Amino acid sequence: MAGAGRTIAAEDMPWLTASNITADPETGAGRWTDDTLARAIREGIGHDGRALFPFMPYANYRRMSDEDLASVVTYIRSLPAVRRQNPPSEVPFPVSRLINSMPAPIEDSVPEPDTSTPEKRGEYLTTLASCTDCHTPRNEQGQFLPGMAFAGGNILKFAEEREPRAAANLTPSPSGIPYYNEELFVDVIRTGRLRGREITDLMPWGHYRGMTDEDLKAIFAYLKTLKPVDHFVDNAMTVTPCATCNIPHGGGERNK
Ligand code: HEC
Repeated sequence: MAGAGRTIAAEDMPWLTASNITADPETGAGRWTDDTLARAIREGIGHDGRALFPFMPYANYRRMSDEDLASVVTYIRSLPAVRRQNPPSEVPFPVSRLINSMPAPIEDSVPEPDTSTPEKRGEYLTTLASCTDCHTPRNEQGQFLPGMAFAGGNILKFAEEREPRAAANLTPSPSGIPYYNEELFVDVIRTGRLRGREITDLMPWGHYRGMTDEDLKAIFAYLKTLKPVDHFVDNAMTVTPCATCNIPHGGGERNK
């Protein structure tokens, strides 16, 4: 069923559907042009001209170089066609209106990223991997909290039976991951375990584990350049209110 789409019901958005992007001509992307796919991925406009709900991280993919985008489209085209009719997205009003102002056209081509240092390469990879979508806390309107990039606290949930987990603070602050080194970081992403403790698969390490050592080390090099943000988050502790991000999470009360 790879690429055949699904509703986002388990994440509490039953009105949202990730499209079938396989080559099926009736229920999928078989009749969409490469440009149509490209516009959806980088500019946030769907095949039917609608602004896509930003759960689809097109704002990050905007940075994707023309060459990388061409590779992504070629790969999508290689997926076996799956016939699967998904319900259309019905974004509730007034959000359906508010999101219309978000997509912006890409006037020119997007050049290859500067990957001359591990930090720069890591910044590009981290953007495309959409780490901030989970690791930067948001307000009730879904906007990123200023000054809190990568500082964690966002609650992730997937299906009723799964315990919600807060995303970790990835900044080099003492309350972030100062104890990480390159080796440990690569190990955590490859194994989904941190010194024996299981990392929940709400953190999509399974998607990232196939990256090369060089790519993962570059991501870690970039994380080390982040502004340290003092924000304690620990999923092993009781969920308590947090004065820093206003989202109740494990160890929240420690942030005064
Ligand atoms: C879909 C949401 C999501 C995305 C995207 C995501 N994460 Fe996470 N991440 C989480 C959650 C939730 C946790 C906490 C898991 C736990 O405590 O079991 C976590 C935990 C982690 C940890 C473990 C921190 C610790 O406590 O030791 C690291 C490291 C990490 N993420 C790095 C990343 C990087 C780097 C990216 C991008 C390449 C990324 N994450 C993308 C949700 C996400």
